[in-house]
Amino acid sequence: MRRKLVAGNWKMHGNRASNAALLEALKASRALDAVDVALCAPYPYLGQLQDSLAGSGIAWGAQNLSQHAQGAYTGEVAGSMLADFGCRYVIVGHSERRALYGDTDAVVAEKFIAAQKAGLTPILCLGETLAEREANLTLEVVSRQIGAVLHVTGMAALARAVIAYEPVWAIGTGRTASSAQAQEVHGELRKQLADHDKRIAAEVRILYGGSVKRDNAAELFSMADVDGGLIGGASLVAEDFLAIVAAAAR
Ligand code: PGA
Repeated sequence: MRRKLVAGNWKMHGNRASNAALLEALKASRALDAVDVALCAPYPYLGQLQDSLAGSGIAWGAQNLSQHAQGAYTGEVAGSMLADFGCRYVIVGHSERRALYGDTDAVVAEKFIAAQKAGLTPILCLGETLAEREANLTLEVVSRQIGAVLHVTGMAALARAVIAYEPVWAIGTGRTASSAQAQEVHGELRKQLADHDKRIAAEVRILYGGSVKRDNAAELFSMADVDGGLIGGASLVAEDFLAIVAAAAR
């Protein structure tokens, strides 16, 4: 039985004061016991999350990392630095990184490896654009994206990772994939992974992300292969995020 994971992706939002209010509200909740909960914050706030969340049962992480371990890479942040701030997770290959910052399939695979080398659990994001969906290329695209990582890591690495299916057209748009659309892709991904290793495929968590809100979360999370969510906008409002966590706990 896969335990559900609800991970917040704050993206480039927040400040010390708003973070503190959000963290206090989340820590006061009881819904947290039945599911795994994590928050992925901008780099400068990881120390604040560590101070606030240590011992709370809520894990934290970052939204990106360098593919390099250290060196002359001005402005970059290494996985070991994230681990130094107690991070458990790091998002890798988010569609915004792929579209805006040149994170190709090959770079995403390198970042995935760098994360695991630092002892972090990568949350590997996959997803098709609207044009790709309309051209019936969804499964081809997500297979290519996951294949690029598997090709270099091998299947065993997936036992220490989380996958997030995030259709690009659903991110921040208010347009969610239907639960059937999500299940179709999640089920297909798991089937493909099972061709490599049945046990790992059955155990790896596949989150759905893209306009998950308090009123659609329960339906999405009820699908057989949807093991929780990666939550953007709704993770910035304590009540909304907690309602989504509660939906995963049902
Ligand atoms: P959203 O973002 O929930 O605001 O659509 C999800 C994500 O990009 O991870």
